[in-house]
Parts: sequence; structure tokens; C-alpha cells
Amino acid sequence: MIKNFHSDSLSDTDVIAGEILSEFPARIYALIGDLGSGKTTLAKSLLYRAGVKDEVTSPTFIIFKKYPVGDRIYLHMDCYRLESLEELKPLHFKKELADPKNICIIEWADKIEEILPKDRVEIRCTPGPHPDSRIFTVIQLP
Ligand SMILES: Nc1ncnc2c1ncn2[C@@H]1O[C@H](COP(=O)(O)OP(=O)(O)O)[C@@H](O)[C@H]1O
Ligand SMILES: [Mg+2]
Repeated sequence: MIKNFHSDSLSDTDVIAGEILSEFPARIYALIGDLGSGKTTLAKSLLYRAGVKDEVTSPTFIIFKKYPVGDRIYLHMDCYRLESLEELKPLHFKKELADPKNICIIEWADKIEEILPKDRVEIRCTPGPHPDSRIFTVIQLP
């Protein structure tokens, strides 16, 4: 399944996050797109709408951060600064990915594609026709 969501504003993006969660339930959300394409903005709305009430800060420098919601753990990851998959070893990231309790929202997921489970939802973030528009192309893989 594949669907394009068109956003013309931050509030559209927030609504789209809710729609993605209900129409594409998944354990791995792989966000892909250039700087400024809206990955962090969308990730924050996904986390908020999934029930994370803590303030979500960018995990760029710490690679990932965990937010418990009930008996699940939302993991927000940013691979922007990652230079090699070796850096993930001490973080036991493969174990985190495989843990059924974890729901992983991963920015710059294309950088770690080779270790991602095949069964995942990919969200491609691209600019739209106006400065405040974005297109989120959501694909249920494989
Ligand atoms: N419709 C929109 N959806 C998401 N972000 C938008 C939108 N319109 C403008 N923006 C702005 O674009 C920027 C997106 O940045 P960010 O989410 O950090 O992108 P990335 O994580 O992909 O680098 C933010 O400054 C945000 O306010
Ligand atoms: Mg970002």
C-alpha cells in the first residue's frame, strides 16, 4: 500500500501524523528526506499523537531517545550524524530494533537501511509547490 499525504501547513502535518498512525500501524517508521523536508516535525507529531507527553528533543547528537507510553516504548532516532553502523553496536541498536515492545521512528533511515527489518513503513518527505507545503509518501513495505 502507498499513499501520498499533502500538507500545506504545520497543522496539516500534525493531522497527517494521526492519519499515518491509524492507516499505517507499524513498529518501524523509516523517515527519509533532505534537511528541512519535515522529518523531525512529523516525528514529533507522530510521538505526540501516539501518546508521548514529554517534550521531544532532537536526538541528533545522542542517536536515539526512548519515550515510554503504557507498555510500549517509542524510540526516536536520528541517523544524520551517524558515520558508520559500527557506532550503533555499543548502543545495542539491533536488539532495540528487534524488541517487539519498541516502536521506532527513524530519521535518515536510508543510512541504516541494511539493518532495518523488511517489514516497515517508509515515509518519504519532499517539498511541495509552496514554502510551507510538504508531500509525505507513505509506503508499507515489503
Ligand atoms: N507543512 C509543513 N510540514 C512540516 N514542516 C514544515 C511545514 N511548513 C514549514 N515547515 C518547516 O520546515 C522545517 C522542517 O524542519 P525539520 O522538521 O527539522 O526537517 P528535517 O528533520 O527533515 O530536517 C521546520 O522549520 C518547519 O517549521
Ligand atoms: Mg531532523
